[in-house]
Amino acid sequence: MEPLGAVSATALVDRLERPLRDLRISVTDRCNFRCTYCMPKEVFGADYAFLPRSEVLTFEEIERVARVFVSLGVEKLRLTGGEPLVRRDLPALVEMLASIRRPDGQPLDLTLTTNASALRKMAGPLAAAGLGRVTVSLDSLDDAVFGAMNGVDFPVAKVLDGIAAAQAAGLGPVKINMVVRRGINESSVLPMARWARTAGVTLRFIEYMDVGHTNGWRMDDVVPADELVALVDAEMPLVAEPPRYRGEVATRYRHAEGTGEIGLIASVTKPFCGDCTRARLSAEGRFYTCLFTGDGHDLRAVLRDPAAAGALDDAVLREAVAAVWRVRDDRYSEERTEATSTRLPRIEMFAMGG
Ligand code: GTP
Ligand code: 5AD
Ligand code: SF4
Ligand code: SF4
Repeated sequence: MEPLGAVSATALVDRLERPLRDLRISVTDRCNFRCTYCMPKEVFGADYAFLPRSEVLTFEEIERVARVFVSLGVEKLRLTGGEPLVRRDLPALVEMLASIRRPDGQPLDLTLTTNASALRKMAGPLAAAGLGRVTVSLDSLDDAVFGAMNGVDFPVAKVLDGIAAAQAAGLGPVKINMVVRRGINESSVLPMARWARTAGVTLRFIEYMDVGHTNGWRMDDVVPADELVALVDAEMPLVAEPPRYRGEVATRYRHAEGTGEIGLIASVTKPFCGDCTRARLSAEGRFYTCLFTGDGHDLRAVLRDPAAAGALDDAVLREAVAAVWRVRDDRYSEERTEATSTRLPRIEMFAMGG
């Protein structure tokens, strides 16, 4: 093993020369929604075995892992789930993470992806704890369509109220993630695009992906990004915008008239693996180098190893993370075919952190 300090943040790249810049941290595998594309209720019913608490990382453990990742080059932390707001006392974790500084002394981009069901209550405490901004999942403005997609008939109005609460608390600019499924919520695309302009949020259309095994994905269910752009452009003319940073997931367009922009996350028709700088930490402490992998690296075992303690322990953890990143060569979305999309094993997105 290399001596402590041997891994410098600038030097750490994977086999495809990609640096480590983003860490997505799943704080729980639980969620109060049952979105058809993520946790279909037929599979994730009352008797589904979610992780027992002892197996979930504590806030202290998450903070330690985050510090190590930041020392290796991570600049953005995104809290996810499941639904991150179902984890008790989340603002306490946010406060711990907000105090972390990059090696150059800069603060982190600290953000969270949520279904907004608890945002009215939590936006203020999260902002006070140091959260920078939020991204909200919303697939339609039509209650019948949204209720069917979220699986629990959760009303649109409550999500909109949560978004307003986030904006009022200073957690903007708020981004909205809309997963588009052929024949299910295609009719919601234009109403969402019109609404986003008035609500002052950035809407991103996401191509429905073949993550996990339970959502029954078929290529026919995907509405390609080009088709979505053409649909919006016909009513609200769009102008392509350049990426803001290397590895930006969304392709951006601005409205030619007035203000506002939309984003397209085209991981199926235009994969962006070449610039993928994202790592994922599951609620139980496994480190995944790709959204489409069944194979996580067990950092909890390193964290809870009684043989290693204190400062030395962090050096061990740091080297464990760096060693995994150095040999990373994932580019699943670029290699995707109908055949690989049924390949085993693959972990569900809510379990690893979307
Ligand atoms: P910003 O920091 O706001 O720019 O966030 P982002 O553009 O990274 O978007 P976000 O983290 O909200 O991700 C949006 C969606 O993009 C996710 O919910 C996924 O559906 C998809 N996505 C994000 N990262 C990846 C990735 O690494 N691979 C693939 N295939 N899809 C991804
Ligand atoms: N395809 C695309 N995006 C998905 N998400 C979850 N499952 C899928 C899928 N199958 C994303 C959505 C949601 C976030 C939490 O995860 O963007 O907003
Ligand atoms: Fe829950 Fe988000 Fe998955 Fe929907 S997409 S079931 S809100 S974790
Ligand atoms: Fe990154 Fe894997 Fe997504 Fe490609 S498929 S962008 S390598 S997470």
